[in-house]
Amino acid sequence: MLRSILGMDLVTVILVMFYPALVTPCDLVPLGLHSCLDLTSTAHISTQDTHFGRYIEGSSTNSKGEMFAVNYGNDFTLYTLGQFYPQQRLFYADPVPHTHFNGIRFLNDNTAYTVDAANHRVLQLTVNQYPNGPPTVVGSSVFCGDATMIEPNDLTLSKFGTVFTSGMRMLADTDDTDGDIWSCLQNGEVKLLETMGRTNGIELSPDDTKLYVSESYNRGGTPYVQKIWLYDADVTSGTISGKRLFVDFSLLDGTQNFDIDGMRTDVAGNLWVTRHGAGQVVVFNSTGSVIARVRITFPNPTNLEFGGPAGRTVYIVGKCEGANTGCIDRLEVVTPGRSWSNLQPFGSSTEGCWCPE
Ligand SMILES: *[C@@H]1O[C@H](CO)[C@@H](O)[C@H](O)[C@H]1NC(C)=O
Repeated sequence: MLRSILGMDLVTVILVMFYPALVTPCDLVPLGLHSCLDLTSTAHISTQDTHFGRYIEGSSTNSKGEMFAVNYGNDFTLYTLGQFYPQQRLFYADPVPHTHFNGIRFLNDNTAYTVDAANHRVLQLTVNQYPNGPPTVVGSSVFCGDATMIEPNDLTLSKFGTVFTSGMRMLADTDDTDGDIWSCLQNGEVKLLETMGRTNGIELSPDDTKLYVSESYNRGGTPYVQKIWLYDADVTSGTISGKRLFVDFSLLDGTQNFDIDGMRTDVAGNLWVTRHGAGQVVVFNSTGSVIARVRITFPNPTNLEFGGPAGRTVYIVGKCEGANTGCIDRLEVVTPGRSWSNLQPFGSSTEGCWCPE
């Protein structure tokens, strides 16, 4: 027993000495703060076989667990959406000048929403889902938009189609008007909900009653504030209230220099958060404790989503290390994602453990 405890200590000491300072795996979190699982994802698509550009973002699932992301192609094709599971292919190319897609979500087999950061709009795609063969976009129209939206950057979608968007103005020094939160109802009514520091990750809880939004601030070109706020959400009116702090990374683990990027919940209500620059995904339970950290194979993850046939594969997307291409990691887990679950005919069980198999 003593031997193994000493052995653990030695491993920890070696990790502290040699592990790059930017990552904080569970082992290095101060004792007594919490305990968590230290996980590692594996490469699904790497720079050798990718068809995606370095601005890959907005990973998304449909009801079958087929996976999609933005920036199919290269640096110049920001107007595209691509499929990456089970195969890589172009899903949609927008004809409007300067379109810059940054996120996608499916409402059902025939409708998806995608945000265009350059033209300040949420686009509705009409999709044909053939029994044999890949889904195909057969039409597109503006779902909502507003010239005063900062971007939008990413979106989340309630079970019956209320959209919430984040957005940011990336400046060397962030102020309280460089980020925003908007909502769009199914009737097209669009509302500015809040102006704040720059916002990025945005996600609903599985019961559609809570909204998580990240907020970051830069000073002299370097991020120095990384917070996630929690709101009560009313998806019928598209409004939020009761703002409270969910996590402040400067207090949690001193990683306030690494941006919070895309966020997703699983059906157990855990919040999965990508940390751009830290090569890591942090998993919080619904009461704000870190329950896992996932080390990924590239340093700049931008987003993640659960998909695959049972909604239990986490796909993490981001720029490949040392190349101007898009990479994708994967991790098998036990609890399905919220988005995948919402797309199943009868919903999906919230029983079971979130842990990896
Ligand atoms: C979250 O984790 C903490 C620490 O393990 C635990 O005390 C708390 O009950 C958990 N919350 C939920 C909702 O499981």
